[in-house]
Amino acid sequence: MNESAILCRGLTKFYGRTRGIEALDLEVRRGEVFGYLGPNGAGKTTTIRLLLDLIRPTSGEASILGRDCRAESPGARQAVGYQPGEFNLYENLTGAQLMTYIASLRSDVDTATLRAYANRLGVILDRPIGTLSHGNKQKLALLQAFAPRPELLILDEPTNGLDPLVRQVFHEMVREVRDEGRTVFLSSHDLSEVEKTCDRIATVKDGRLVAIEDVAELRARSLRLVRLDCAHEPSAEPFAPLEGVDRIEIAGRSLHCRVRGPLGPVLNAAAPFEVIDVISRKPSLEEFFLSLYGREVADHVE
Ligand SMILES: Nc1ncnc2c1ncn2[C@@H]1O[C@H](COP(=O)(O)OP(=O)(O)O)[C@@H](O)[C@H]1O
Ligand SMILES: [Mg+2]
Repeated sequence: MNESAILCRGLTKFYGRTRGIEALDLEVRRGEVFGYLGPNGAGKTTTIRLLLDLIRPTSGEASILGRDCRAESPGARQAVGYQPGEFNLYENLTGAQLMTYIASLRSDVDTATLRAYANRLGVILDRPIGTLSHGNKQKLALLQAFAPRPELLILDEPTNGLDPLVRQVFHEMVREVRDEGRTVFLSSHDLSEVEKTCDRIATVKDGRLVAIEDVAELRARSLRLVRLDCAHEPSAEPFAPLEGVDRIEIAGRSLHCRVRGPLGPVLNAAAPFEVIDVISRKPSLEEFFLSLYGREVADHVE
């Protein structure tokens, strides 16, 4: 049982002349939470649909839990909980009817588990699914994916449309799955979101894999844009020798810099100038991509 959770080799899908995803090589290990990060149109949904055999590849191959996604599709699907990005099925059923239906379809779903997830997510049970908001449909989509306790969860932008409290519940649910040694593959266009939940991240753009990163390593060398507002006009001298600090600029009583790694040494060096406020932000997804490509990230916190 030590085969990969997901394995893609040269996986390629073109829609006519439009590139969905091209030459994707990817391995997701069993037991990890793997983020598939990229802006809209990057090819995330295309990849996920290929894995679930909902669309057919132009070339290349993929397997789930050691089973070929095409040749052994039913067996592969059986072990997977899937949350589609757009949950447009069963529009006339209520949430409660959907739960009954799911329980009757799959012998591996018990009603108590369904109810527990429905409570935690705050699922609306008494109205037709077609009348629900995107966020409320999303909760049902998550419910039906998680409730069978599948070996592998494949989630397409799972936190889209969820309010912050439900996002927290979702993060807990993902952690529980990992604690049980099961695997989660989730797509997102939000870097800070995947950093919170994932062990590793693959970034994709324009149908191509850009990089695969370990989240712990990413954090250790993560770049921050920092602004210190001081009581006295700071000078650059104490900051220049600090490791991982560059782009130091003084503007009145504010000091701007870029910091790779921990902020502690910067704050210590700033003590003589009496720091009033610290503003620090991580690069946006777009800036993150630029840094992966080796280009510069914007210098300033506005
Ligand atoms: N059914 C389709 N027909 C034609 N082009 C498509 C279809 N689905 C996706 N695409 C195109 O494939 C590319 C990747 O889309 P998609 O996989 O949906 O990206 P993502 O999920 O990352 O936003 C986009 O350029 C998109 O317009
Ligand atoms: Mg998508």
